[in-house]
Amino acid sequence: MKILLTGGAGFIGSHTLIELDKAGHEAVVLDNLYNSSPLALKRAAEIIGKEVPFYQVDIRDREGLTKVFEAHQFDACIHFAGLKAVGESVEKPLEYYENNLNGTFVLLDVMRKHGCKNIIFSSSATVYGDPEIIPITEECPKGICTNPYGKTKSMLEDVLIDVQKADPEWNVVVLRYFNPIGAHPSGKLGDNPNGIPNNLMPYITQVAVGKRKELGVFGADYDTHDGTGVRDYIHVVDLGRAHVASLKAIEQKKGVAIYNIGTGTGYSVLDVVKAFVRVNGVDVPYVIKPRRSGDVAVNYCNPAKAKMELGWEAQYGIEDMCRDSWNWQKQNPNGFEE
Ligand code: NAD
Ligand code: UD1
Repeated sequence: MKILLTGGAGFIGSHTLIELDKAGHEAVVLDNLYNSSPLALKRAAEIIGKEVPFYQVDIRDREGLTKVFEAHQFDACIHFAGLKAVGESVEKPLEYYENNLNGTFVLLDVMRKHGCKNIIFSSSATVYGDPEIIPITEECPKGICTNPYGKTKSMLEDVLIDVQKADPEWNVVVLRYFNPIGAHPSGKLGDNPNGIPNNLMPYITQVAVGKRKELGVFGADYDTHDGTGVRDYIHVVDLGRAHVASLKAIEQKKGVAIYNIGTGTGYSVLDVVKAFVRVNGVDVPYVIKPRRSGDVAVNYCNPAKAKMELGWEAQYGIEDMCRDSWNWQKQNPNGFEE
C-alpha cells in the first residue's frame, strides 16, 4: 500500500516507516519538523537503503496538504502528527488544542476530498484515565484525562468515530499505545526529547550517560509490589510493527477498530532501573521523590484483541528495550545533533 505518515520524522513515525518498508509498503513522510530532525529521516534512509519521500508541511496548512495529496494516491494515512508533552499542554492548552484538533480536522477534510478514507490514529493509554479494569481491555470505559494533551487524544477518537458513522466508507483504526521505549537496534534512531525528559526511559539513559546526576523516582508508596508506579513498556520497533499489522483491519474494512498496543506485562519504575543496570552494566543512581501529580499507580493492558484480530503481539521484552535505549543514547549522547 502507499501510505502517508503525518509526523513521520518523529520517534514512533521514523521507526514505523522502516517496518512498513520491510513489509513491502511505500511510505511518504509529512512533518513540520517542530519536534523532529531531518537527520532521523536520513538515518531511516540509511537503514532501508533508499530515500524516503518527504514533505515539510504542517497538517494545518490546507494548501500544502492538498498539494501532497495531488501528487500521490494514498491508500491510507497513519496519523502521528501532534504535540505530546503532557506538562507543556497544561501550560499551553490553546496551542495543544489548536495543533492537535484543528490539524486533524484539516487532514481529515483533505483526505476525504481526495478519496483517501483509511486512517490509523496514534492514541494513548492516557484515555483510560485511572483505569477501572486491570489489565485494561478495550472495553474498559474511558476515564477522566487530567491534561489537555490527553483530552485531545480522547476527543479525536470521538471525532474519528463520528466521521466513520456518518460515512461508512471510512475505516478508522485507533491504536492506544502504552509506554513506548527502546530504539532501533542499529542505534541510529531513537527518542530525542527536548530539554529535561519527562518520561522515564530517556531520563534513565541521560543519567547513565552522565548528562543528569540522578533519577527522581516519583513515589514509592503506591500499592504495587515495590511501591513504585507500574507501566506497560513496549519496544518502539514492536509498536512500528503494530501499525503494519493494523493495515489488515483496513483491508478487512472493519469500520472502526480500537486496539491496545502493549506487551500485557507491567513493570515498576525500580524494575526498569534494575533491568537497565543489569543488562547494560552501567550505574543509574536514583532518589525517591514525592508522587508526580496526575500519575496513576498501575497501568498495563490486555493486548489479546490485537493478537486475535491483527495477528500482532510484542516480540521484545524489557531487557531488549533497555539494551536498545542505551545503545541509542551512548552512540548519540546529544540525540540527532551532528
Ligand atoms: P514525536 O514528537 O517524536 O513525533 C510527532 C511528530 O509530529 C514530530 O515529528 C512533530 O514535528 C510532528 N508534528 C507535530 N505537529 C505537527 C503539525 N501540526 N504538522 C506536521 N507535523 C507535526 O512523538 P512520538 O513519540 O513519535 O508520537 C507520535 C504520536 O503518538 C503522537 O501523536 C503522540 O501523541 C502519540 N503517542 C506517543 C506516545 C509516546 O510515549 N511517545 C504515547 C502515546 C501516544
Ligand atoms: C506519560 C503521560 C501520558 C503519555 C505518556 C507517553 C503523565 C501523567 N502521563 O505516561 O499521558 O501518554 O507519558 O508520553 O505524564 N517516572 C519517574 N521518574 C521520572 C519519570 C517518570 O519515577 O523522571 C515514573 C512515573 O511516575 C511513572 C513511570 O515512571 O510511574 C512512567 O512515567 P512516564 O514515562 O512519564 O510515562 P507515564 O506517566 O505512564
